[in-house]
Amino acid sequence: MIHSRITGTGGYLPGDPVDNNALIAARGLDSSDEWIAERTGIRARHFAPAGAAASDLALVASQRALESAGCAPNDIDLIVLATSTPDFIFPSTAALLQDKLGITNGAAAFDLQAVCSGFIYALSVADKFIRSGSHKRALVVGAEVFSRILDWRDRGTCVLFGDGAGAIVLEASDTPGIYATALHADGRYRDILAVAGHVCDGQTIGDPFLRMDGQAVFKFAVKVLAEVADEVIRAAGMTADQVDWLVPHQANIRIMQATAKKLRLPVEKCIVTVDRHGNTSAASIPLALDEAVRSGKIGAGDTVLLEGVGGGFTWGAALLKF
Ligand code: ACO
Repeated sequence: MIHSRITGTGGYLPGDPVDNNALIAARGLDSSDEWIAERTGIRARHFAPAGAAASDLALVASQRALESAGCAPNDIDLIVLATSTPDFIFPSTAALLQDKLGITNGAAAFDLQAVCSGFIYALSVADKFIRSGSHKRALVVGAEVFSRILDWRDRGTCVLFGDGAGAIVLEASDTPGIYATALHADGRYRDILAVAGHVCDGQTIGDPFLRMDGQAVFKFAVKVLAEVADEVIRAAGMTADQVDWLVPHQANIRIMQATAKKLRLPVEKCIVTVDRHGNTSAASIPLALDEAVRSGKIGAGDTVLLEGVGGGFTWGAALLKF
């Protein structure tokens, strides 16, 4: 039986951290470090410089993941890139990344759009490709420049997000690897978190900025994250106390703490980067995973639960042996 296994991780955050006070001063916001930190846990985030795009961030994260997996770009035969802030409408950011990495072997490459659940969706898709036997070594990436879709006059959203990219190499293996994944969506909730603008006849029609009903998102996230975590743990025939590390989507420390509590996981088992990264959407989980691996927290043989929730609404989880 073919399984898939993570063999390398990489992450990239552009530029210097921008702390809450610096953001408030730069954008003239009626807010405070205390308000942001207490409600969200966020103290700083990174922003890509003008002219930098998701593929530029993805490139560095991918190079680091390839290096840690010990493989060359042309060893990759599949690129699945999750983003809601692609470089262009088309070609895909995955195809741009393929070119920037110098991959010339005809590897399949496509973007996947599931907002903050994007990396979990991409991981699950790549796992299924590998387990089917059609592909052997995938680059799975989450890359975002959410700063490009923020309304800097909306203090309720612009303080929450940052830019970044994270990547993993996922390879065919005789042993797991990925134990189980679960993906869900419910389009009836599409309006509580959306960028509703679109391009038509050379113009942006509608609102080009991210809009969110924060309280509705909060309630929905806590409910579905606990459910989907439970679903993958049961699908793998395991129990929550066998989970060594929880790597949740990094949106809000209170959502993460509530999820850990529902799973009866000690908060120390939860990897937290939201304080320094903000919410980097599809990049947040692979960035947090990479940081935890490089800091020596997550090591070989650990059982790791990844979970995310985002616009759509979409949500999902993956349980794996690192
Ligand atoms: N600074 C100061 N005051 C603010 C700010 C700010 N940055 N933002 C909003 N406020 C004000 C509001 O205007 C409101 O003032 P009012 O009472 O005078 O009208 C007051 O604070 C309370 O606003 P609420 O929106 O009710 O604040 P809440 O306690 O719900 O916190 C927050 C808002 C932090 C967004 C919270 O709802 C939340 O974390 N929701 C989860 C959403 C999330 O994490 N989204 C990330 C994207 S989705 C995802 O990744 C899953």
